[in-house]
Amino acid sequence: MSALNAAATLAALRTSWLGRCLEVHAQLPSTQNRVREAALEGAPEGLVVVAEEQTAGRGRLGRTWDAPPGSSLLLSMLLRPHISPMQSALVTAACSLGVLDAVESLFGLRLAVKWPNDIVAPSAGRETAGAQFRKLSGILTETATIGDHFAYCIVGIGLNCNLDPAALPSPLLAPTSLSALLGRNVDRAELLCALLLGVENHYLTLSGTPEGPELTRSQWIKRMVTLGMPVVVSADGSRLEGVAETVDSFGALIVRDSAGRLHSVHAADVTLRPAPQSSCTGHD
Ligand code: BTN
Repeated sequence: MSALNAAATLAALRTSWLGRCLEVHAQLPSTQNRVREAALEGAPEGLVVVAEEQTAGRGRLGRTWDAPPGSSLLLSMLLRPHISPMQSALVTAACSLGVLDAVESLFGLRLAVKWPNDIVAPSAGRETAGAQFRKLSGILTETATIGDHFAYCIVGIGLNCNLDPAALPSPLLAPTSLSALLGRNVDRAELLCALLLGVENHYLTLSGTPEGPELTRSQWIKRMVTLGMPVVVSADGSRLEGVAETVDSFGALIVRDSAGRLHSVHAADVTLRPAPQSSCTGHD
């Protein structure tokens, strides 16, 4: 497996600005921390930090993110979107759409999103709803705001490339990797370039026009396996059961409980429950 290299990546990169300022590290505690340091020092929007290994990689809700050295894409991006900080979930959405485009364009794999931040692949032959999907990638969006705008938004992406998923912990969703899905190893440098191009395209849609947030929301919804599904939502010791109906203009998941009440879910673990019918694909 060849190591990622900043000069070679920059030579192949087709973005206008995302990743044009690029750091590739052999090891970091977390790429999120390195980008935050750089942001506080005034680094430009579009800075991308990649690590071959993280010693303290983190995921959502205080979890860790583990990947064998040199096996994956582990990167963080510095963004300053021109949208309300209350819509930060849509930044995650735009980046998810970029990952989906990259994986589909290079490998022909049409993957999906599990709200709010998981990129999942169907797992054939499983019986329960939760086990119908395996997690390929996770996205972590960390923000700081000044008044009603972003000081910075750091989006971290972990994408399992060339590894045996059995080597990874699986707190909620069973993991998968591109090598497991494709039966061969992938070129991570090529994937990194495609991913940055995909993210740049979707980010420009989100942040570049007044209708961007709504466009991003509607594209996100079309790729979401969560909607229409019975779900269990767990947050801060509370538990809600219901059906995931839609995602609102802030990116919150709207869940209807058995009494017909609507709940707006902003940050939580969402588990898909077995569906009464067998179909649970994304909405078109
Ligand atoms: C999740 O699924 O909970 C989000 C995982 C995000 C992991 C990535 S790996 C690169 C970046 N650095 C980190 O410490 N975390 C993110």
